[in-house]
Amino acid sequence: MSNNLLKGKKGIIFGALDEKSIAWKTAISCHEEGADILLTNAPIAMRMGEINKLAEKINAPIVPCDVTSDEDMLSLLTKAKEHFGGGVDFILHSVGMSLNMRKGKPYTEINYGFNQKTLDISATSLHRLLATAYKLDAINEWGSVLALTYIAAQRVFPDYSEMADAKALLESIARSFGYHYALKNKVRVNTVSQSPTRTTAGSGVKGFDGFIDYAEKMSPLGNATGEDCAKYLVTLFSDFTKYVTMQNLFHDGGFSFTGVTQSVIEQMEK
Ligand SMILES: NC(=O)c1ccc[n+]([C@@H]2O[C@H](COP(=O)([O-])OP(=O)(O)OC[C@H]3O[C@@H](n4cnc5c(N)ncnc54)[C@H](O)[C@@H]3O)[C@@H](O)[C@H]2O)c1
Repeated sequence: MSNNLLKGKKGIIFGALDEKSIAWKTAISCHEEGADILLTNAPIAMRMGEINKLAEKINAPIVPCDVTSDEDMLSLLTKAKEHFGGGVDFILHSVGMSLNMRKGKPYTEINYGFNQKTLDISATSLHRLLATAYKLDAINEWGSVLALTYIAAQRVFPDYSEMADAKALLESIARSFGYHYALKNKVRVNTVSQSPTRTTAGSGVKGFDGFIDYAEKMSPLGNATGEDCAKYLVTLFSDFTKYVTMQNLFHDGGFSFTGVTQSVIEQMEK
């Protein structure tokens, strides 16, 4: 059911890899709520071809962009302005990758070259996106920018490894740039901290099955699904949340503020 929450709005969505992706589900929800979308992903992800199915379904153009490249970012936002005939109203940054985790390097033995790349892809890219948009005036007044994050930025989840540091930096960039973009053009910038969700990036975390089960037991409402995350993001792109900025917002079924649950106690007593 659509409530036309995003009727007439234009947005860019980064990171739809396949139909499990949070970005994929968000693109569909935004489209259902009346928005026009432009999709983007790394050129290497395009080669999988899955994104074409989504583009067809929601009638969206695709512009490749490796988020670590200044040239790609400039080209993406320039093309988005041409395509929409002006600025956009919202942007989803749904991008993350850890080279050390992918190479099986434990946190205490990370390779710093890989680490720099991880931070660039997963965090500094938000700065690059905002700085390029700021320069090109590519986001309309009262626009909304969201990036996805995880609670490992605040608490230790050992297997989340260097991604915890990347998420802490990402959240800090959202706060710092949120200040400057609010002054420039009343643009708001927030991060949404999502429950563990079965996606390609999520499943890359060691021991993910145990991780997801534990979070389910520790969340009074249970883990938030990718579909529900998409719906929450729609509200944050809408005009009903115009004064929310520089925040890290938990979308996690209550996990972040729960000390222990009956379900976990029963598990311990077994
Ligand atoms: N899945 C979870 O449990 C979970 C929980 C909280 C937060 N998140 C965050 O949600 C976001 C989306 O992840 P997802 O779980 O939907 O997984 P996903 O694997 O579907 O999405 C990650 C995306 O990042 C893209 N990407 C990687 N390197 C890139 C580059 N250099 N340039 C451009 N794009 C690049 C990938 O192509 C992919 O589309 C990530 O920031 C992730 O950390 C995920």
